[in-house]
Amino acid sequence: MKKPKIVSGFSKLSKRRKMLWLAENFFANPEEVARELKSFWYGDPQKQKIFDEFSENTVSNFYLPYGVLPNLEINGKLYCVPMVIEESSVVAAASSAAKFWLSRGGFKAEIISTKKIGQVHFEWKGDSQKLKYLFSSLRQRIFDDTQHITANMRNRGGGISSIELVDLNHLEPHYYQLKITFETCDSMGANFINSVLEETSRSLSSFVGEQKEFNKDERELTVIMSILSNFTPDCLVRASVECPVEELGTFDDGTMDPSTFAYKFVKALRIAHLDVHRATTHNKGIFNGVDAVALATGNDFRAIESCGHTYASRDGQYRSLSHAEVKDGIFRFWLDLPLAVGTVGGLTSLHPLAKRSLEMLGKPSADELMMIIASTGLAQNFAAVRSLVTTGIQKGHMKMHLMNILNHLEASEKEAFEVLAHFKDRLVSFTAVREFLVVLRTNKASV
Ligand code: MEV
Repeated sequence: MKKPKIVSGFSKLSKRRKMLWLAENFFANPEEVARELKSFWYGDPQKQKIFDEFSENTVSNFYLPYGVLPNLEINGKLYCVPMVIEESSVVAAASSAAKFWLSRGGFKAEIISTKKIGQVHFEWKGDSQKLKYLFSSLRQRIFDDTQHITANMRNRGGGISSIELVDLNHLEPHYYQLKITFETCDSMGANFINSVLEETSRSLSSFVGEQKEFNKDERELTVIMSILSNFTPDCLVRASVECPVEELGTFDDGTMDPSTFAYKFVKALRIAHLDVHRATTHNKGIFNGVDAVALATGNDFRAIESCGHTYASRDGQYRSLSHAEVKDGIFRFWLDLPLAVGTVGGLTSLHPLAKRSLEMLGKPSADELMMIIASTGLAQNFAAVRSLVTTGIQKGHMKMHLMNILNHLEASEKEAFEVLAHFKDRLVSFTAVREFLVVLRTNKASV
C-alpha cells in the first residue's frame, strides 16, 4: 500500500475521479483496481445513480448473495423469504428448519405492541414542580405545533400516542426528558419521529420562554438533543413453534429419541439464558436470520441489532432472546423480539431488490414483516441449536464452506469435482483442501 495522503474536496470530485484517486493512491496496480471497481457498477446508469445516492463518496457497489428461504409457514400462510447474507449454511439451515416445522403446524406469530419512542433531552434550572404544573398545557402545545408534520401519519392511523415529562434530576442536575411515544404504521418512522422531535424541542423552548410567571432564569431552557430511541421494547413480536414431543422424530440417524432431543434442546436454551458467552453466540444465530431478511427488505439492521441486544439485557444480564420448554408432553420454542421495521419509505421502495423482496412476500404490512422476520430468526435459531445438540454444526457447515475454499483457491470445475468427491466422508479444513489441491495439481503437472 502507498503512503496515504490527506485529500481535500474529495466529496466534490466526480465518482470516476474519486475511484481513480483511490486506485492511484492506495494500490500498486491502479488500472487493474479501477477496472475491478468499475466492473461492479450497475449496467444501467440510471439504476447505478440510485445506489450512488444512498450514501456518500461511493466508488463502487459491494455485492452480497441474495438467497431465498422457501416453505416458511406463518399463521397458516406460506412465504418464500428473501435473505441477504454472506455466511454459508445460514439459508440452508433456515430452510431445513422451515421444512421441519411445515409438517408440525408451522410457525405462529403475533404482534404484542407497535409503539416507538423518541426523546427530547433538556436542561432546565427552575423548580421542577412549576414545570410539572404546566405540563398539560405544554403537551397540548406540542400536539398543536407538530400538527403539520403529524397530519399525514394521523390520517393513516398513527402519530403521537403520548408525551411524558421525565424528571431525571436525581441522575444529573437539571436533566429532564420529554419521552414521546409514536405509532408509525407501515413505515419504520425514523425521519418522521426525528422531525416531530426537533419541532417539539422548538415548541418546548418557546413555551418556557413565554411563561410570564417564570423569572428570567426559568425562561431559559437548554435542549441538549432530540432523537428517536432505537430501543423499542414496546414494538414487540412473538414467533413460536410447538408440537408433541414424540412428533419431533428421531435425530442423529435414529440414535437420538425425541425426548432426549427435547431435553438437550431445553437445556441448551437454559444455558443460553444463564451464560453470557453462550447467550451472545445463541443470539448471533437468531440475528443471522433476522438481519438477512432486514437487509433483503431494505430495513436498518443496525437499529434492529442494537435494540435486540439491549432487550436481551433488560434484566441486567445479557440473555438468550428465545426460550424453550416441555410442558404436558408438548415441546414449545419461542422468541420475543423488538423489531422496528417498515414496508414503506426509506430504502424499501428505492432499492430495486428490496422492492422485489417485499413483492415476493406479498407486499406485507410492517406488522406482517415483523412476524416474518421473527419467524426467520426463530427458524435459524432452531436449526442451529438442533445441530449443536445432535451432530454439531461443523459437519454441515464445512461442507458448505468447502465451496468458498474452492473459490478462494481458484479451483477449476474439474478440480472442484475431485475435491468434493475426496471430502465426501472426510473432515473439511482449509489446510486439508489446499494440501489436497497441491497434490492434485502436482500429479497433473507431472503427467
Ligand atoms: C453461526 O453463525 C451461528 C451459531 O454459532 C449460532 C449458535 O451457536 O447457536 C451456529
